[in-house]
Amino acid sequence: MRVKPLKSNAERLACLEIAKALPEWFNEAGLKAMERDLKSETTFIAVENGRVLGFIAIKHLNEKALEILWMAVRREFRRKGIGTEMLHFTEEWAVKRGFEVLVVKTSGDLSYKPYDETRRFYEKNGFVRVALIDPYPEWGEEALIYVKCLRKD
Ligand SMILES: CC(C)(COP(=O)(O)OP(=O)(O)OC[C@H]1O[C@@H](n2cnc3c(N)ncnc32)[C@H](O)[C@@H]1OP(=O)(O)O)[C@@H](O)C(=O)NCCC(=O)NCCS
Repeated sequence: MRVKPLKSNAERLACLEIAKALPEWFNEAGLKAMERDLKSETTFIAVENGRVLGFIAIKHLNEKALEILWMAVRREFRRKGIGTEMLHFTEEWAVKRGFEVLVVKTSGDLSYKPYDETRRFYEKNGFVRVALIDPYPEWGEEALIYVKCLRKD
């Protein structure tokens, strides 16, 4: 398995198909926004034997901060380290370009189990909770904000 930049339309459609098969995390509005973002923002994909197994889409907030917009791993391949590998690839890419902070917004509904797994993923990978915004204006529901410092010095 290797991680590389998303290049083709077929790869983009494979990413959308992965997300569509995860309705506990991505609703219709989310999928629409994702479709738009995968065309305009930097996206990395995890590929094995020509098959896309996962993706991560990022957005430049400013010259120091990068936001993870979307991330998903094909359902049957979850919990095998693919998300962590895509995250490490993204972090190395970001450090090389001078970014200092990685930000991610995720569901702040602490009673919703699917996103509990997502929060565990980010926390295991060194992200720190910094705010719970309720409601987050763009979403109309609560958002949990995580940050991770990329500087090692
Ligand atoms: C979140 C996601 C991208 C993580 O990718 P992944 O390949 O499954 O994650 P990894 O195998 O690298 O997991 C690393 C750690 O995260 C935590 N974690 C990941 N999935 C978990 C789960 N289902 N339940 C509990 N903890 C989980 C664990 O601590 C895990 O380490 P461990 O297996 O050694 O205990 C993936 O599970 C996914 O697609 N989730 C649904 C969509 C989503 O939440 N997207 C992010 C919001 S936009």
